[in-house]
Amino acid sequence: MRSVKAVVYGVGAMGSIMARLMLEKGVQIVGAVARSPEKVGKDLGEVAGLGFATGVTVESDARRALSTGADIVVVSVASFLSVMFEHFKLCLENGANVVTIEEESLYPWGTAPAQAAELDRIAKENGVSMAASGAQDIFWMNLVSTLMGAAHRVDSVSGRCTWNVDDYGPEVARHVHAGETKGEFERYVAEHGWPDFVVRSTLEALVADVGLTVESVETSVVPVLAEADTPSRGLGAVIPQGRVLGVVDRATIATREGPKFGFDMAGSVYREGEADVDVNEWVVRGEPEELHLRNDRVPTRLITCTSVVNRIPDVINAEPGFVTLDKLGKPRYRALPLGHYVNS
Ligand SMILES: NC(=O)c1ccc[n+]([C@@H]2O[C@H](COP(=O)([O-])OP(=O)(O)OC[C@H]3O[C@@H](n4cnc5c(N)ncnc54)[C@H](OP(=O)(O)O)[C@@H]3O)[C@@H](O)[C@H]2O)c1
Repeated sequence: MRSVKAVVYGVGAMGSIMARLMLEKGVQIVGAVARSPEKVGKDLGEVAGLGFATGVTVESDARRALSTGADIVVVSVASFLSVMFEHFKLCLENGANVVTIEEESLYPWGTAPAQAAELDRIAKENGVSMAASGAQDIFWMNLVSTLMGAAHRVDSVSGRCTWNVDDYGPEVARHVHAGETKGEFERYVAEHGWPDFVVRSTLEALVADVGLTVESVETSVVPVLAEADTPSRGLGAVIPQGRVLGVVDRATIATREGPKFGFDMAGSVYREGEADVDVNEWVVRGEPEELHLRNDRVPTRLITCTSVVNRIPDVINAEPGFVTLDKLGKPRYRALPLGHYVNS
């Protein structure tokens, strides 16, 4: 068995948890990248709150961190493939595989095909692969496609999930416009449109996984507004009554073969007194009339990170290129150090 060498690219809320999980699964962390002066120059253990020193210094120079010969770079920085393109390109060009929680990368062929094709080309040229995982992987995709395997005929698949913006870092709070007025939010959406790729990419990955073909996609967003002043850990401030706590993102997909898919994702700062529990619920209709899947108390933040870490061997073992979630195979529990699962 060989050991897996990794770079933690983005030492925020998610990257910090993943650092601990990787170390506990025998991964050798050989580099860490962040940008703020409060983090750069410090030991990863201190920045990630591990309670011990790792001997790895967090640095802002990604090139230097990538010169360590890592097998894989675990990227938890920002959303949008367009924003992350240069970061991914740099990792791939340095001969490292990439696993990320950047949401669009789960299945980018619908929303960012040119950038995905370019990254696919660069990955192949360098003999490495890139893929995304996260909360979508098991709870919003693989559990649902497995459930569909019990159907004789599927007419529709509808899902909904909830998660707490305060479980993540400032990048996520910004993404859902937490703290803005309703007017500011509506103006933003009118001027820039809404980046609907989180729900859309998840559904498109699901549609691809069950061998269906997208015919049309519709997406929409509505803000979730504070009914009372609501403290937010993520923002480190109180969101005044009437302002945005988060959003409900919705995507519906019609397929050429018939089944229709719908998914509502509610990501908002949970209201005071509201039970801090995330729900994941899906219904497959057809024959049988109804197949129902419901997960209460989903630890979305933690399973985002555990799913990514368990995927590390899959990404290293994959054929070179941009590997979408439908091509990554069944997710697996990894009892042993991750190097045990890496081929050759
Ligand atoms: N797929 C999923 O299930 C899932 C789940 C959660 C989050 N996400 C996505 O993952 C991303 C990160 O989430 P998070 O909660 O960890 O956010 P976060 O706490 O804000 O962390 C972001 C990290 O990226 C670093 N960073 C930002 N820009 C950088 C740059 N140009 N160069 C180097 N480092 C940079 C930040 O560094 P500094 O702190 O030094 O500024 C910080 O360490 C978000 O886009 C979020 O939407 C996906």
